[in-house]
Amino acid sequence: MHLRWFGLFIALPLGFVLASQFAPAARAGGPDSAPNPALVENQVCLSCHASKELSMKLPSGETQSLYTDEAAFNASVHGKQGQRCTACHTNITGYPHPPTTARSIRDLSLQMYTICRQCHEKVYQQALDSIHAKDLAAGNSHAPVCTDCHTAHAVTTPDNPRSRIPQTCRKCHSLIFDQYKSSVHGAALLDQSNPDVPTCVDCHGVHNIPDPTTNAFRLKSPEICAKCHTDKALMKKYNISTNVMNTYVADFHGTTVELFVKQSPNTATNKPVCYDCHGIHDIRNTKDPKSTVIKENLLKTCQQCHPDATADFPTAWMSHYDASPTQYPAMYYVNLFYLILIPVVIGGMLGFVLLDAARRILNRFQKPGSA
Ligand code: HEC
Ligand code: HEC
Ligand code: HEC
Ligand code: HEC
Ligand code: HEC
Ligand code: HEC
Ligand code: HEC
Ligand code: HEC
Ligand code: HEC
Repeated sequence: MHLRWFGLFIALPLGFVLASQFAPAARAGGPDSAPNPALVENQVCLSCHASKELSMKLPSGETQSLYTDEAAFNASVHGKQGQRCTACHTNITGYPHPPTTARSIRDLSLQMYTICRQCHEKVYQQALDSIHAKDLAAGNSHAPVCTDCHTAHAVTTPDNPRSRIPQTCRKCHSLIFDQYKSSVHGAALLDQSNPDVPTCVDCHGVHNIPDPTTNAFRLKSPEICAKCHTDKALMKKYNISTNVMNTYVADFHGTTVELFVKQSPNTATNKPVCYDCHGIHDIRNTKDPKSTVIKENLLKTCQQCHPDATADFPTAWMSHYDASPTQYPAMYYVNLFYLILIPVVIGGMLGFVLLDAARRILNRFQKPGSA
């Protein structure tokens, strides 16, 4: 115990007195209502922690600020509910506090985030399975815990506005954010507050983000896109075809991926999934000159896997179109031809067999009579 903290023993009871007598928060309820006991109690802590100068030196040599922003706390979801500082800081009942064992600023955060678990057990459990938790366990101390994304004292609704979500991830994934920002999805969200497009968490999840570099994730990825791109009502708004999944699965490319998902979800495949052709965080409108699937760039996209492909190669695939009199008319009429020819031929043959059988039966019955 340092001598200079000695004065704080006096400050603590004084804090109580100050808090109950003068603290503005205690009067917040209005002249007639009783002061909110949580706010009164918090004033005790704040009598020291509202000071911007209060800090402590850690063994790492870093200085940890001990300032708590009262206004931000009172505006937070927890502050608004009138939560006490001690609802979270259950180990602190007065001063002196129990000694901290944290060696560095990061160490302190990693020790203290488990506070959130007391009331958010379900989310805490989910988060244990995420790639972030795995990276943390593997020794990457930069992987985020609750407080990196939500803060400790200024927690507000994380998806209000919705554009806050990618902004949260941006803190550490700024290069991906920059790509996303100019993609057809990100631009719609960030420039037009469009609620229909995916944020980071629609594709990755939030608290249970799986490793996106596994084969299992790759093989299942078309389902992420399909969630929205097969939704007829949603896609109608943008005049985008919902046939993209059907045509993809019906195709040589998609069929093989579907089979893999069912039979051996962890096997590597070289077959394309949606993002091999469209990009991932930089997906463009198909008419955007930067689109990977616009005619001028399409060959390069196919050449990733078909290195010998030549200029007319992309036309070998009908992209997502079903053949029609305007799209791939030759294919359409060949299909149509077979569509008519096959029933006619089979029907004709069946008819022939039936007529022939009927004739024979009739003949048999007629013979005795006519003899
Ligand atoms: C008399 C002044 C004073 C009061 C009142 C006070 N603190 Fe502190 N607090 C400190 C000082 C000084 C430190 C630096 C570390 C130490 O001396 O224990 C600290 C450190 C902390 C820490 C970080 C390190 C640790 O021990 O976990 C937390 C969290 C904390 N205080 C919370 C609170 C809460 C919650 C309250 C109200 C119940 C409170 N404090 C009341 C002075 C005070
Ligand atoms: C919702 C839970 C919660 C509430 C309520 C809460 N704290 Fe904290 N507090 C935390 C967590 C978690 C940390 C660890 C933050 C970090 O450093 O990563 C923390 C850290 C601290 C620290 C150490 C310095 C720092 O910022 O890391 C102080 C001091 C502190 N709190 C004081 C207070 C005071 C004063 C109040 C009441 C006005 C309060 N806390 C209310 C969860 C809470
Ligand atoms: C003492 C209990 C308690 C602790 C500890 C606690 N919370 Fe909460 N938290 C609540 C309650 C109660 C709500 C309100 C739930 C609701 O509105 O549905 C809430 C709501 C939230 C929300 C949702 C906000 C919204 O508007 O949707 C987030 C995010 C959150 N807490 C994060 C945290 C984090 C991060 C920590 C740790 C620093 C933490 N909580 C610690 C009780 C707690
Ligand atoms: C990588 C950043 C990140 C981490 C780490 C994180 N969250 Fe969240 N959390 C978010 C985002 C973003 C949302 C909003 C998701 C949405 O609306 O779809 C959210 C939503 C929430 C909600 C409200 C919705 C719900 O699911 O109940 C709570 C409560 C919450 N988080 C608590 C926590 C707790 C507790 C931890 C630590 C165990 C934690 N979060 C870790 C980013 C994070
Ligand atoms: C506080 C920093 C931080 C925040 C905030 C954060 N991440 Fe991370 N994330 C990391 C670190 C560190 C890794 C470890 C791998 C690395 O170095 O990229 C990681 C890994 C990932 C991975 C796996 C990457 C791989 O190659 O395996 C995904 C996916 C991911 N984060 C998504 C998100 C999403 C989505 C959000 C927002 C909801 C988010 N992250 C917020 C720091 C952060
Ligand atoms: C439309 C769906 C989608 C959206 C939106 C999305 N991602 Fe991804 N993300 C993916 C897919 C699919 C992969 C796997 C790509 C691969 O195999 O390399 C991926 C890979 C990643 C990776 C790991 C590989 C790498 O490139 O480092 C990180 C980290 C990541 N995303 C973070 C984010 C963040 C942060 C956001 C929001 C700004 C975001 N993602 C938005 C689909 C998406
Ligand atoms: C949460 C829903 C959602 C998810 C998930 C989603 N998208 Fe989208 N996507 C949209 C919406 C809505 C638009 C239209 C945006 C606009 O035009 O403003 C769009 C636009 C597009 C476009 C541009 C279409 C055009 O008009 O040329 C392509 C290409 C695209 N998405 C591909 C994908 C791929 C590939 C995935 C999966 C990796 C995916 N999307 C996941 C909702 C989604
Ligand atoms: C082999 C490459 C390839 C794959 C795989 C692929 N696409 Fe496409 N996609 C294209 C091409 C090429 C176009 C442009 C067609 C045109 O405009 O003529 C396109 C167009 C689109 C469009 C715009 C349709 C419209 O109405 O404007 C969407 C949306 C789309 N694809 C989504 C997907 C989804 C979702 C998947 C996975 C289920 C997928 N794509 C798989 C090459 C591909
Ligand atoms: C990620 C790699 C990848 C990309 C990108 C890709 N393909 Fe393929 N493609 C394959 C593989 C692998 C096969 C063999 C499929 C099988 O055997 O099941 C194939 C088969 C084909 C076939 C069937 C005939 C053959 O050669 O076996 C055509 C036609 C085709 N691709 C066209 C395209 C076109 C057009 C593009 C660009 C729009 C494209 N592919 C992009 C991997 C890819």
